[in-house]
Amino acid sequence: MFGEHFRGVTMKKPFVAGNWKMNTDSHSAVSLVEGVVSGCEETAGSKVDVAVCPPFVYLQQVGKALSSSLVALGAQDVYFEQKGAFTGEVSSAMLKDVGCTYAICGHSERRHVIGETDELINKKVHAAILGGLLPILCVGELLEERKANKTTDVVTRQLKKGLMGIGPEKMLAVTIAYEPVWAIGTGLTATPGQAQDVHALIRGLLAEMYDRKLAGEIRIQYGGSVKPDNTGELMGQEDVNGLLVGGASLKADDFVAIVKAAARAT
Ligand code: 13P
Repeated sequence: MFGEHFRGVTMKKPFVAGNWKMNTDSHSAVSLVEGVVSGCEETAGSKVDVAVCPPFVYLQQVGKALSSSLVALGAQDVYFEQKGAFTGEVSSAMLKDVGCTYAICGHSERRHVIGETDELINKKVHAAILGGLLPILCVGELLEERKANKTTDVVTRQLKKGLMGIGPEKMLAVTIAYEPVWAIGTGLTATPGQAQDVHALIRGLLAEMYDRKLAGEIRIQYGGSVKPDNTGELMGQEDVNGLLVGGASLKADDFVAIVKAAARAT
């Protein structure tokens, strides 16, 4: 596998993020993050980088609840303009202001439910970096695209267009998340081999677009029905450097178990 070229290039700390999507309320969001903070005390920041991405409206409260910990705060989206007449949108400056470190860009639900294009997502990646946030750029194919053997084409297009104009220095701020759409919320996880194949493809593309050393430093998360009991084998794959967790991040015990399993697997 391509990834072998990178073995030992750098010790990447695994990065596990919980994407809460449109879930929780003001009370449960705080108790969830409190559970994450206390469960990850030994691991967050030292063995694994850990982040939670609550809905916009709860960012501030959740940020307050994790402020004395090494668990980071992330947003599920960001708009590309800095301020002005953009009703309903939230800028990177605002996210930074409430304590965000990360911003998810181009999640498949935004691509396929809301209709975001690669061009829009690329603007968001630029805006996130410009605003001092670390973008998590999501890529991944639909089931019909996988069945039609288009996974490579789709992931290549999403990666190249999503990173258009991002030079090597800025690229160091970016995490890539491979989330096969057919594995999201379905209980169908990509096999470790399927995940590794696409992760190696992504790393190979990054090596072409930048260089091998830089490609070896970029963390590539896997997302799609990650659970405590499949974390070990997914994280055991050479090019899987972290996880973007949906459903299982809504239970503190499960998310903490995933973080601990990720720490053990590396
Ligand atoms: P699930 O873990 O619920 O499949 O969601 C994955 C995801 O979309 C994370 O961003």
